Amino acid sequence: MNTNPWDARYAGEGFFYGTEPNDFLRAEAHRFKPGGDVLSLAEGEGRNAVFLASQGLRVTGVDGSSVGLQKAQGLASARGVAITTVVGDLGAYDFGEARWDGLVSIWCHLPSALRRVLHPKLVRALRPGGLVLFEHYHPKQLAYGTGGPKDVDMLLTIDELRADFTGLEALHAFEGERDIREGAGHTGASYVTQFIARKTA
Ligand SMILES: C[S@@+](CC[C@H](N)C(=O)[O-])C[C@H]1O[C@@H](n2cnc3c(N)ncnc32)[C@H](O)[C@@H]1O
Repeated sequence: MNTNPWDARYAGEGFFYGTEPNDFLRAEAHRFKPGGDVLSLAEGEGRNAVFLASQGLRVTGVDGSSVGLQKAQGLASARGVAITTVVGDLGAYDFGEARWDGLVSIWCHLPSALRRVLHPKLVRALRPGGLVLFEHYHPKQLAYGTGGPKDVDMLLTIDELRADFTGLEALHAFEGERDIREGAGHTGASYVTQFIARKTA
């Protein structure tokens, strides 16, 4: 029996977060090395990976939901781009060493115990010059009720990201309110954490 709750959420006809990319990612994607290798963590139904591929990047999306990634491949075909998808748990995924020019984490909300193990792996997985890019909900989002997990342990502050990626050069660090409209899943005024940092040579 399939017990992944995301499979059930993605099983409907439409796209839960729409087919357009996250707008922060869209605005900042120019920072990635042209033609570079980008891994999108918790890619879901493919909107972000498909956008990045349309920008000429070589994109892999990993997610625990096979239903989501099947739709991601359908969206990629419909848009005439190629993406690689891997069904897997981020706790077990092999990110490699100096493997990626970009690591994208959009609403990839994970328990803090998993983040503590994951973040050092992401640093190792970046090539020199490579970027991490995050947009996650902040603990203050709990009061907004416009999307995201209800468990504060899954939510992320800029202080945590600064501390976990202290060896990288921070290019953008923000926490605050902004309007987000992404399908039925994210619906209005929200409190977010954004972070972009580069691994220096
Ligand atoms: C809020 S959705 C975001 C999807 C996508 N990033 C987007 O912006 O459209 C969260 C995603 O995280 C995935 N996910 C949650 N925990 C995971 C884990 N431990 N390993 C892999 N994927 C996970 C879910 O399957 C889901 O697709």
